[in-house]
Amino acid sequence: MEVVTSILSLHEARNRLQGSLGFVPTMGYLHEGHLSLVRAARAQNSSVAVSIFVNPTQFGPNEDLDKYPRDLERDTELLEQRGADLVWAPTEEIMYPPGFQTTVTVAEVTKPLEGAHRPGHFQGVTTVVAKLFNVVQPDRAYFGQKDAQQVVVIRQMVRDLGFNVELRVSPIVREPDGLALSSRNALLNPAEREAATVLYRALTAAVEEWQDGWREAAHLRETMASTTTAERLARLEYVSVADPETLHELEDNAERALLSMAVYIGSTRLIDNMLVGVSEE
Ligand code: PAF
Repeated sequence: MEVVTSILSLHEARNRLQGSLGFVPTMGYLHEGHLSLVRAARAQNSSVAVSIFVNPTQFGPNEDLDKYPRDLERDTELLEQRGADLVWAPTEEIMYPPGFQTTVTVAEVTKPLEGAHRPGHFQGVTTVVAKLFNVVQPDRAYFGQKDAQQVVVIRQMVRDLGFNVELRVSPIVREPDGLALSSRNALLNPAEREAATVLYRALTAAVEEWQDGWREAAHLRETMASTTTAERLARLEYVSVADPETLHELEDNAERALLSMAVYIGSTRLIDNMLVGVSEE
């Protein structure tokens, strides 16, 4: 496995790889969720490349960029064990050299949900992912359903700009108690870690109601909200029952829907989601 930093060394290493290339873009501090993407990439391609870059432009001024966990040595060991061929870990100066002035903006699907609460977040994501795709030139790219809106946004960008890359989406990986894996879970203290299962509990309560025949989107939102507010350490930011493609909030019946939410547990912001009436890819 080669670990490279500069764009030139990435190009040279990329050119040595034969056959189809599967690519997993990450911000590092890898967990089983990332490793499930690497596993899928390994199974479906001749070679696997992974990028590790904590992208500052997708963090707002009051967000957790400084305390975002990082451990490049551990990450590269895990990737070596999982059979990755190439790791690109650029510096901030390489991704955003002095004078950098190009951005990629996706319009409608970035407006609700995360976009409404994290201004500028998706422009940071699409700009960096466009650059990663341009430099790495993958055949397939792997993303997790945990960031459901990110998947919708990147799919739109790929379609609109004609990127020659096939997107593959892997299901959310959860702890035994339901907490969705996230690098941010490392920031929770033991009491917060216990409280953090509230996202899973709230989503599961709504999904069970949907399975029992409840369809009113407002009722499902209310179930998610009331389950969350009953948890002392949780501060609800939003709950949503939205169309899975347009991400428009559903006003009437939720036959097919993305149920999603963002919650602060202490000072750590967590997101989670579940689909109803849609089979996950
Ligand atoms: O999902 C992430 O980890 C990031 O948003 C991504 C896609 C690596 C871009 O920085």
